[in-house]
Amino acid sequence: MNDALHWNGIADNYDREIFNVFKNDKKRKLKKYIMKYANKKNTAIDFGCGVGKALPLLAPLFKEIIGIDVSAKCIAIAKSSPYSNVSFKEADLAAKKIDVQTVDFAFCCNVAMSDDVSRNLRIINNVLSALNKGGVALFVLPSMESVSLSAMSLINWYAKEGTEFSEIPSDEFNHFLSRTEKQVQEGIVSIDNVPTKHYLFTELYAMFNSGNFAMQRLDRIEYGWETEFDAPPTWMQAPYPWDWVVEVKRVK
Ligand SMILES: C[S@@+](CC[C@H](N)C(=O)[O-])C[C@H]1O[C@@H](n2cnc3c(N)ncnc32)[C@H](O)[C@@H]1O
Repeated sequence: MNDALHWNGIADNYDREIFNVFKNDKKRKLKKYIMKYANKKNTAIDFGCGVGKALPLLAPLFKEIIGIDVSAKCIAIAKSSPYSNVSFKEADLAAKKIDVQTVDFAFCCNVAMSDDVSRNLRIINNVLSALNKGGVALFVLPSMESVSLSAMSLINWYAKEGTEFSEIPSDEFNHFLSRTEKQVQEGIVSIDNVPTKHYLFTELYAMFNSGNFAMQRLDRIEYGWETEFDAPPTWMQAPYPWDWVVEVKRVK
């Protein structure tokens, strides 16, 4: 299925089906990172804007926001946001090249995460290509290390309740264990049965420190354990599950 068809199919049930990073960001770090680059004289692009969840953060801080998405239906919903400085463009970010103006700040939250790693890379490259020299892109991407942390926490939980590792129902780890060789190799783990690319710290470090680009900072957007498990026990606290937030600068 192509991306437009897939995401148009989700648009009507977006709030129920798609995790809201902005609402669950425990320490409100995304706001802090976006504010670092806020500039009322500049245009920023929200790549893969979806139904516009980032607009309340972005629109008041920049002169103009361009929301780009492959889904006409998501864009139609995003258009109902109350901001007069936002315009939209329907485009496939996984195309070889996209026609978009260059900017000093780009935002791309949970878009380059399909199980097609070459599509993800084209999306990332298109976002980076839209940066002026000195410009910064902020990517939010799923973390492979966070998947491991969740598995460890679940094993701990069972242990505290007296269940040996060998007695844990195997379907608890289906998302991790029932993968093809290729999915293991490529870091694909299912979230709610959707095969999803998860990134390792070292992978991001290598990927974003090359050519004209340099990783400025890597941080964790932390979420509560209730985003991973139904009714997690109260002792289950930090470290919390997370997505990566990566600041990448065009240095040349
Ligand atoms: C998980 S949602 C995230 C939306 C938004 N960034 C947010 O954080 O709320 C992924 C979004 O990426 C868009 N998307 C996926 N593949 C795309 C592509 N190839 N080109 C443009 N947009 C794409 C989808 O339509 C969807 O709106």
